[in-house]
This record gives sequence, C-alpha cells and structure tokens, in this order.
Amino acid sequence: MEFTKLINGRESIRSYDPTKPVDRAVLERILDAGRIAPSAANRQPWRFLLISSREMLTQVRKCYQKPWFQDAPHVLVVAGRTGEAWARQDGWNSIETDLTIAMDHMVLAAENEGVATCWIANFELSVLRSALSLSSEDRVYVITPLGYPRPGFSKKGQKQRKALTDVVKYL
Ligand SMILES: Cc1cc2nc3c(=O)[nH]c(=O)nc-3n(C[C@H](O)[C@H](O)[C@H](O)COP(=O)(O)O)c2cc1C
Repeated sequence: MEFTKLINGRESIRSYDPTKPVDRAVLERILDAGRIAPSAANRQPWRFLLISSREMLTQVRKCYQKPWFQDAPHVLVVAGRTGEAWARQDGWNSIETDLTIAMDHMVLAAENEGVATCWIANFELSVLRSALSLSSEDRVYVITPLGYPRPGFSKKGQKQRKALTDVVKYL
C-alpha cells in the first residue's frame, strides 16, 4: 500500500470478529516488521508475544476488560528488559522507545495487511504479568489486539488532529 495512504488510513479499531483469525503467514509478516525495527545501539531488547490459544487468551483478556477486546482472536504484547536495552551516560534507558518503535512497525504492517489494531496502554500490568509469567525485569508499555473488524464495521475515515501550524515550528 502507498505509505501516505497507509498512515492516513490506519485507525484504532474497537470492533473484532471473533470468528476470523489471521492467517499464520500474515501474522509472520507483521511480526517480521517488528523484528527489523531500529533500536538504540541495535540492541533489539524485545520479545513479541503473540497470544492466540484459547487458554492464554482467556488469561490475557482479563488485563483489559473492554468487551471489544474480548473478541479479538489475537493479542500482541511487546515485552523487553531494561538490562538488554541501551543506556545513555546520564542514565536514560532506551527500552520504552525501542519497544514502542517495534510496536509501531507492527501496527503499520498490520494496516498494510488489512489487519485491525488498537494501541492499548490502559491494561492492568499485574494481570498481564501473571498471565504471561513475566518477570519483574520485563517491561510492557503497549499491547494490541489483532484481527478483522466485525462485518458491517466501517472506519471513521477522519482524523481528529491539531493543525500542522499548531505543532510545527520552522527555525
Ligand atoms: C500510547 C497509546 C496508548 C493508547 N491506549 C489506549 C487504550 O488503552 N485504550 C484505547 O481504547 N485506545 C488507546 N489508544 C488509542 C488512542 O486513543 C488513539 O490512537 C487516538 O485516539 C487516535 O485515534 P486513531 O488511532 O484512530 O488515529 C492508545 C494510543 C496510544 C498511542
């Protein structure tokens, strides 16, 4: 898909058809877009946890109780460890930036495949931690459902955004 069309067309989708899982080959192309994402000092401090089994979905869905989230046939969790990420001399660590860039790559790759996503940060971390047996070292900042919208769903097709003049300063 043409890039400008792709980024304008991506929307947070809050409607998922529980009967339509995404093909393995499509999922792998999406995950591969995360694999090739840039990271500070190329540390690649991430793990991509793709939850599709009924048992794991039952556990993971408890971390975000919205009804539409319960319908998604897959949930993608990007996890990583601070100790594996790059740290600047002043102590700043790149983990959140690295993991978020990887997620953005995968969200855009999903859009390119016609697969719906929705960034979610408002999940219960402790629930996710225990569902996925994450250690206290593991960081998770965002997750997304993956799937196809329910029949009849249509995108808003309009972005609510500040004007370019409000956010850009040419110096
Ligand atoms: C870091 C981040 C966290 C978000 N967390 C949530 C969330 O917990 N629940 C939700 O429904 N949407 C969440 N969103 C989606 C935003 O509400 C959405 O991206 C924004 O309103 C713009 O709409 P659009 O994605 O359709 O363009 C999140 C988005 C980002 C980037």
